[in-house]
Amino acid sequence: MSLSLSSNAFSIRPTKYEALRRRFSSQFISPIQVSSSTRAFSVSHVYSPSIFKFGRERLNPITASAAAAAETSPSSFRNKTPKDINVLVVGSTGYIGKFVVRELVKRGFNAIAVARERSGIRGRNSKDETLNDLKEANVCFSDVTDLETLEKSVEGLGCDIDVVVSCLASRSGGVKDSWKIDYEATRNSLLAGRKFGAVHFVLLSAICVQKPLLEFQRAKLKFEAELVKEAEEDDKFTYSIVRPTAFFKSLGGQVELVKDGKPYVMFGDGKLCACKPISEPDLASFIADCVLSEDKINQILPIGGPGKALTPLEQGEILFRLLGKEPKFLKVPIEIMDFAIGVLDFLVKIFPGLEDAAEFGKIGRYYAAESMLILDPETGEYSSDQTPSYGKDTLEEFFEKVLREGMAGQELGEQTII
Ligand SMILES: NC(=O)c1ccc[n+]([C@@H]2O[C@H](COP(=O)([O-])OP(=O)(O)OC[C@H]3O[C@@H](n4cnc5c(N)ncnc54)[C@H](OP(=O)(O)O)[C@@H]3O)[C@@H](O)[C@H]2O)c1
Repeated sequence: MSLSLSSNAFSIRPTKYEALRRRFSSQFISPIQVSSSTRAFSVSHVYSPSIFKFGRERLNPITASAAAAAETSPSSFRNKTPKDINVLVVGSTGYIGKFVVRELVKRGFNAIAVARERSGIRGRNSKDETLNDLKEANVCFSDVTDLETLEKSVEGLGCDIDVVVSCLASRSGGVKDSWKIDYEATRNSLLAGRKFGAVHFVLLSAICVQKPLLEFQRAKLKFEAELVKEAEEDDKFTYSIVRPTAFFKSLGGQVELVKDGKPYVMFGDGKLCACKPISEPDLASFIADCVLSEDKINQILPIGGPGKALTPLEQGEILFRLLGKEPKFLKVPIEIMDFAIGVLDFLVKIFPGLEDAAEFGKIGRYYAAESMLILDPETGEYSSDQTPSYGKDTLEEFFEKVLREGMAGQELGEQTII
């Protein structure tokens, strides 16, 4: 079944939707990334004698003893040298997770990357490709969606865990998958980490949770609340919750189209939503800082990239300037999305299977209208000035790279909508 409300404006057919999302992606800070082939590994399917399997070489042998974990004080792991600090990374095969693993390895930590046997968008990467992507880290193939399996995998490592870093996210943003990954699987990683000594948890969340209208935001917030509670109940445990603004991949969807002579498409006057985009390496560096920095303990940390906030209109202007072309904008009324969402909300009452389609419509509407900046609760206004900046990579440099090399490696993912 498909529903097209406009020739190029909205469709719930997966392919059309993908095209639309790309087209409007300057305004879709899209969490819409799905693996339609999610597989849970049964214990018998995984490797013996232990459930995990390290990468080709154990470059960073794990030496700490589990017994030591019991005596861990809040900051004792911070006194160790990085090579003796065991950091379990879940969501290690994602857009940001991969960079986080690389950054942790670069800083000398003993990074243990948890991955699925088939990782990446639609499970496109084999084990060997995953091992290659995460080279120099220890790779533990497991299933974060199953607590028992994950605990056995961590037990099989034969060492304590000092810190858990989660870059997990639903690849679809669909209702059930969001709860399964952004809440349950992330919680599993906390529980498994805690069982084996983890005293610090770094969570990659999102700045948009400050105005939660979507299921994945509610799922993230529920986990954030549990993380905070854990630290309140155990003063040996700490957390850092990182809430970034837009990623570069979410803003590059129109670069190649504009290069091919198409207009830059934006909602309303092009000023409805602004963000301070941050690159994968810069965000990974910030997340890695959270492992040791005492000033990031028990904090919620909104973070954007360098420079001032950019509206879609300004992003389009940058693009036309780089191309040396006269700006050509297509302004789409935001009401089009409201109409489409209204229709989907009505249909979902008759066809519950359209639940995710309706949610994707809401996600699109959200990112077309809401800025990815600090929201002042008193004024209800988004503030560029209050949104912290970090790093050095600019969106302009990213656009230049995409113009040169295309969007390879910046895939948003794929969603199964119906
Ligand atoms: N896009 C933006 O502009 C933006 C802005 C701010 C914040 N954020 C937030 O940043 C976070 C990470 O984003 P990202 O783009 O790095 O995510 P991503 O590329 O979609 O990566 C998601 C990670 O979670 C894992 N995962 C998903 N479903 C799984 C399952 N069923 N079982 C096991 N593992 C599963 C994936 O593993 P596989 O490789 O095996 O699938 C992957 O490692 C999200 O929380 C997002 O909301 C995004």
